[in-house]
Amino acid sequence: MTAPLDDFALAARATPLARFVLDAIEAHDGRITFAEFMALALGHPDHGYYARAGLAWGREGDYETSPEVHPIFGYLWARQIEECWERLGRPSPFAIVEPGAGSGAFAVAYLTWLRARAPECFAAARPVLLDGHPQRVDAQHAALAAAGFDAEHALFDAWCARPDRATGVVISNEFFDALPVYLVTRRDNALHEWYVARDPAEPDALTLVEASPSTADLDAYFARLGLQPGEGARAEVNLAAVEAMRALAAKVERGYILTIDYGYAAKDLYASWRREGTLMAFRRHTPQPDPLLEPGLVDLTAHIDFTSLAIAAGDGWQAAPLVSQAEALTVLGLPEALRAAEARASADAARYVEERRAAETLTDSTGLGRIRVQVLAKDAPLDLACLRSVEAIYGVRQ
Ligand SMILES: C[S@@+](CC[C@H](N)C(=O)[O-])C[C@H]1O[C@@H](n2cnc3c(N)ncnc32)[C@H](O)[C@@H]1O
Repeated sequence: MTAPLDDFALAARATPLARFVLDAIEAHDGRITFAEFMALALGHPDHGYYARAGLAWGREGDYETSPEVHPIFGYLWARQIEECWERLGRPSPFAIVEPGAGSGAFAVAYLTWLRARAPECFAAARPVLLDGHPQRVDAQHAALAAAGFDAEHALFDAWCARPDRATGVVISNEFFDALPVYLVTRRDNALHEWYVARDPAEPDALTLVEASPSTADLDAYFARLGLQPGEGARAEVNLAAVEAMRALAAKVERGYILTIDYGYAAKDLYASWRREGTLMAFRRHTPQPDPLLEPGLVDLTAHIDFTSLAIAAGDGWQAAPLVSQAEALTVLGLPEALRAAEARASADAARYVEERRAAETLTDSTGLGRIRVQVLAKDAPLDLACLRSVEAIYGVRQ
């Protein structure tokens, strides 16, 4: 059946990538899955959003992630990384693996803090930055080298395919929410999938069409969770995130996986009141109405299902209840950092204002502060500092 969703039935517009999307549609009998479309839009080697040269980050780019707001984000997470090292019995070497490392700003910040404040941990640390795109790997290499850090830089799949395993921490920020998702709708007790096709009404325009699922993995996904999206609602399924978590978890002999990302437990992500899913397109810090428009020039993202990530990690892994980024940063020492900034304010007022603004942005409960943190532990204590309740530490509710 051809049933364009009202808000999705717009033209693709002639971006350099649009031709490749239309060719892929022709080559696959007139339609591709939304996950195939998103993989092209974000990852086409020449014109994909993340694959292209000269991608701008932070305020200069299309959206701002926490490491781009201020290095304090990385300094606070470095304290957590150091605790992981302690709780693992101070191993050496100690792997710090960051998939989807963006501009490298997060790694530069946590390594800067470790070098200055935790030199023994820093000496044991073996940082590994992973990305899906060669341009990003090269840019991350350059950013770390410029900051004086020696790290391993590799493509995600190649690194995961190697048989060796590591003891340490996998830490990622907004990595899983950048992976391609399938779009589905449950109707009349059956799962249907939305595909991307040429719009018959408009040449070179894209639209969504509904048909039966492209893979039995989609039904298996919901069967594993023991739930279904609400009748008639659109929902996303991130099979790539499940695969990525499986691969990462298999690489860890002993240690932690700290996932910082927009997302919910499955029961909340697929709650029956959620009618439109969480898929978003961003350009210049503005949400775009149609994710099919301007492929390759907009960022596409969908919230992740933390329950499926925990299941994917598999045997031997324990999961802690999710906490918000605002809570995690608070217990990791944001208030003390601000008190220190305040004490310096008379000497450097501009820096104080900048740090205070960063703290507000990172903990804003309508923005970055609502990002969730998931801690998974294998053969290691689960009760890390970032999980301790604000009330227990400060004696007051946040
Ligand atoms: C939303 S950005 C986040 C970047 C950075 N972590 C930050 O917080 O600023 C997503 C990152 O994941 C990378 N990425 C996308 N697909 C990937 C894949 N399949 N494997 C590894 N990295 C991928 C992108 O190139 C980018 O670096």
